[in-house]
Amino acid sequence: ARTLGALGKRVDLRIGTAVDMSALASDAAYRAKAAGEFSSVTPENVMKWEAVEPQRGTYNWAPADELVDFAKENGQLVRGHTLVWHSQLPAWLNNGDFTADELREILHKHITDEVTHFKGKIWQWDVVNEAFNDDGTMRDSIWLQKLGPGYIVDAFRWAHQADPKATLFINDYNIEGVNAKSTALYKLVTQLRKEHVPVHGVGIQGHLDVQYSAPHDIATNMKRFDDLGLETAITEADVRIPMPADNTELEAQAEAYDVLLRGCLLTEHCTDFTVWGFTDKYSWVPGVFTGEGAANILDENYKAKAAYNAMSQDL
Ligand code: XIL
Repeated sequence: ARTLGALGKRVDLRIGTAVDMSALASDAAYRAKAAGEFSSVTPENVMKWEAVEPQRGTYNWAPADELVDFAKENGQLVRGHTLVWHSQLPAWLNNGDFTADELREILHKHITDEVTHFKGKIWQWDVVNEAFNDDGTMRDSIWLQKLGPGYIVDAFRWAHQADPKATLFINDYNIEGVNAKSTALYKLVTQLRKEHVPVHGVGIQGHLDVQYSAPHDIATNMKRFDDLGLETAITEADVRIPMPADNTELEAQAEAYDVLLRGCLLTEHCTDFTVWGFTDKYSWVPGVFTGEGAANILDENYKAKAAYNAMSQDL
């Protein structure tokens, strides 16, 4: 059977996965699947701020460089993830007592140095991640608190200056359907486009749970972003299940993946569909959502689940 990556190429869609660098190093089966099944990759953690600059002024690019090399060897594009976020910040930054001017300069330097380091090697950057609350207000992050909402405009301008050819995304979760959060994001990007801020895409994470209904209005939501001239992508798809997973839940999971993928396929400029890990053997879900798991498209033994087959059929 053809791989998801190969099937996606026929319709100009990259099919990606988040990559766990320790699994890539230690597990040959994982490495083979990551190399063969997908046409794009996203570092699950190693491009985040705490990973690249654990001590102030001391950069550690090696793990991320390794993924970029892996992608090149395998003809894959790289989604850079992520430059501005409230989470996984280095301790020196979280605990530092910086003035607004200092913090602005720290952010400018971070974005400039990281985007410059990977210049020409990153297809799409998640420049700003999770800037909104579910009610559509802006998340009360260190960035909003100290710099005000203008940090978003600055971040996109700085990233664009450092690598004018990269496609720049704003990324968030719970924005699959039309709701308060996706509408707030829609209003923001409408305004940014008007002001010629270099934002080029909207990333929809796609972390779903079989306990809640799948976002059947996803294509309607994605179309309004597409109509603004923006690219879209599903950037972190997974569908968690209360454990143990039974057959009905695995079918519901397959349907949820199908809803996400069809949303993308129905949207003209949806350029990438990335799963947040591809095997239940390695997943962030059990560590974060108590009692839930089995969120991926292959089981712990790399055997295709109904979700994999649903994706394959859609493509
Ligand atoms: C998660 C990783 O999967 C975990 O390994 C890490 O411990 C925490 O972050 N939204 C995002 C991702 O944008 O970066 C998060 O990744 C999952 C939620």
